[in-house]
This record gives sequence, structure tokens and C-alpha cells, in this order.
Amino acid sequence: MNKTELLRSVPIFSDLNQNDINKISERMVSRTYDKGRVILLEEATGETFFVIAGGSVKVTRLSDDGREVILAILGEGDFFGEMSLLDGAGRSANVISLDNSEVLTLSRNDFLEILETYPKIAISLLEELTMRLRKSDQQIESLSLSNVEHRIGMTLVRLSEELGKIQNGKVRIVNFPFQQDIANMAGTSRETVSRTFTLFEEKGMIEKDGRTLAINDYSAFCRLFS
Ligand code: CMP
Repeated sequence: MNKTELLRSVPIFSDLNQNDINKISERMVSRTYDKGRVILLEEATGETFFVIAGGSVKVTRLSDDGREVILAILGEGDFFGEMSLLDGAGRSANVISLDNSEVLTLSRNDFLEILETYPKIAISLLEELTMRLRKSDQQIESLSLSNVEHRIGMTLVRLSEELGKIQNGKVRIVNFPFQQDIANMAGTSRETVSRTFTLFEEKGMIEKDGRTLAINDYSAFCRLFS
């Protein structure tokens, strides 16, 4: 996909006409990151806004005892790095590449100027930030649940929304994150995630094939875990 096609598929830019998309894409610079590379470091000064052109990233913070807590996993078409550009504080979290990833970047000045020039983009950005707040609210609720199976189920629903493709009632997530990452999202251990996945598989709720995970009856799964 070329730069302008990609921008058209990014929800916050999708309302713009081709001329405006072309103007914005001219200001964007492509960068690539190997799997595991730190793209943003918590507390660092923010100078850049990012749109994911390919691959995926995890947004993390470290707990006091050094455990990684995953706040979100973002995939193609998602953006990150907007918070510190908007409020001038340091980066709110680490962002780490989960695959070999390609991003399109905008400088702080260009990002702020684009928001002023195109109010539609500012409104779409607010819509996306609202959705992220809702998801964070759900994650806080989910982490307070004592039932770990439920926490892992809710994490799978969230990943399906963010990274999955639905077809005939079945959701498929390719390049599914590692079990340790699921554990860090659900506030549990890798071993518990492994045991719970085996249980879900035995009940016919999910299927795993290499790095692809499928939820067989997605609406039934959502009814159980939301
Ligand atoms: P910024 O604070 O500039 O750098 C870290 C980025 O991680 C932040 O901007 C957001 O883009 C992203 N981020 C932080 N918290 C969350 C969250 N809860 N959900 C999704 N993305 C987040």
C-alpha cells in the first residue's frame, strides 16, 4: 500500500478528500523498526506523531516491582504519540514493536498545524481517544475481577476488536501476541494463560494454529466475557 492509500484507510484521516490526503502524506516520513525495538520511552520528550503502516506495537508501563503492564496493542492504521504532543508532558508510556513494523511519522509542528487546519481530524482524534478511554475503563474493571479465566476471556475480546478479522461469526487474529504479552494484559502469569487457552480449546471456544488464534463463535464468546 502506498502512503496516500494507507492514510485513506486510517480512520482519523478517512473523511478528507484526495487533495488534502496528498498534502498530509507529503509531510509524513516512513520509518521501520525491528521486532522488539523500543519506539518510544516513557517520560521522554515528545516530538513525533506516528501512524502504523504495517506490523503492530504494544503500549506498556512498568509496575513498581518491574513487571510489564500492557495498556494496549495497536495495529495497522492505528496512531500513537499524540498525548505528549497535545499536553507537552513526557511520553505517557513505552511503545515497543511487536513485529517488524513500518510507521509514518509527522513532526510535532505539522501534527498541531494539521489539527488546526482540519477540524474533522481533531474530532476523529477525540472519537478515537474516547474509545481508548472506554477500553481502559473496561481493562480496569477486568483487572479487578478475581476470576482469571474471565480476565483472559475479556483480553481476547479486546484483541479481537483491535486486531481481529471477523468472517461468518468467527474471528481470526493472525500474528497473535505471545502468551507472556497476554499475561501482561490480563494481570496473570504465562503459565495460567497457557492452561486457560488449553481449557478454551478443549471446550471448542478457540482454535490455535501457529501464530493464528480463532474464536469460533465470537458473539457467544462476547456474551460470556463482557
Ligand atoms: P504519548 O504519551 O505521546 O506516548 C506514548 C503513547 O502511547 C501515547 O502518546 C499514546 O499514543 C499511547 N497510549 C498511552 N496510553 C494508551 C492507552 N491506554 N491505550 C492506547 N494507547 C495508549
